[in-house]
Amino acid sequence: MNAETSKDPMVHVIDHPLVQHKLTLMRQKDASTNSFRTLLNELAMLMAYEVTRDMPTHQVEIETPLEIMSAPMIDGKKLVLVSILRAGTGILDGMLTVVPGARVGHIGLYRDPKTLKAVEYYFKMPKDTQERDVIVVDPMLATGNSAVAAIERVKALKPKSIKFVCLLTCPEGIATLRKAHPDVTIYTAAVDRQLNDHGYILPGLGDAGDRIFGTQ
Ligand code: URA
Repeated sequence: MNAETSKDPMVHVIDHPLVQHKLTLMRQKDASTNSFRTLLNELAMLMAYEVTRDMPTHQVEIETPLEIMSAPMIDGKKLVLVSILRAGTGILDGMLTVVPGARVGHIGLYRDPKTLKAVEYYFKMPKDTQERDVIVVDPMLATGNSAVAAIERVKALKPKSIKFVCLLTCPEGIATLRKAHPDVTIYTAAVDRQLNDHGYILPGLGDAGDRIFGTQ
């Protein structure tokens, strides 16, 4: 993490030992497709726990087998989890395990290999997104172009709030996203050293989509 990132209150690095341990296992080039996918799923559950930490609750009266009590329940409409296809699916599944009632949106974007710009091919969101908090997920915040484009589309629907969750990022990706969307909080397990000329994060973990789906 560089000095600037470590001071930015809008960038949360989840440094829990379990998260860091699992990320290290995922980075290793010999990790099988099965273990990469399993680890991403577990990491997404742990990250969901952090990202939803500030969800408001209200007290409801319930009856235990022994007596009546007032107990907290999550307030308001269910969250919307927005997966940037295709690699976002890997995080989405784990987060849905922890927040099973969440609504789900999908944004299909691919990265033009020459320009590294995001090109949209699919967009489907729940109808009442303006009444909900949104969490956009993609394992890698690299150039930041896909995240910026996805969040622009989501913002047009005027949700109550937007957070962005990734597994790994780099100073370049954070700078691009922060500049375009300074109101969006970023949650990540690590901020790596840099981006290479092909838009890959170094040291990184390679192509997240290929490693999740075994398409390499
Ligand atoms: N997307 C990936 O899958 N990996 C990177 O390093 C950058 C973007």
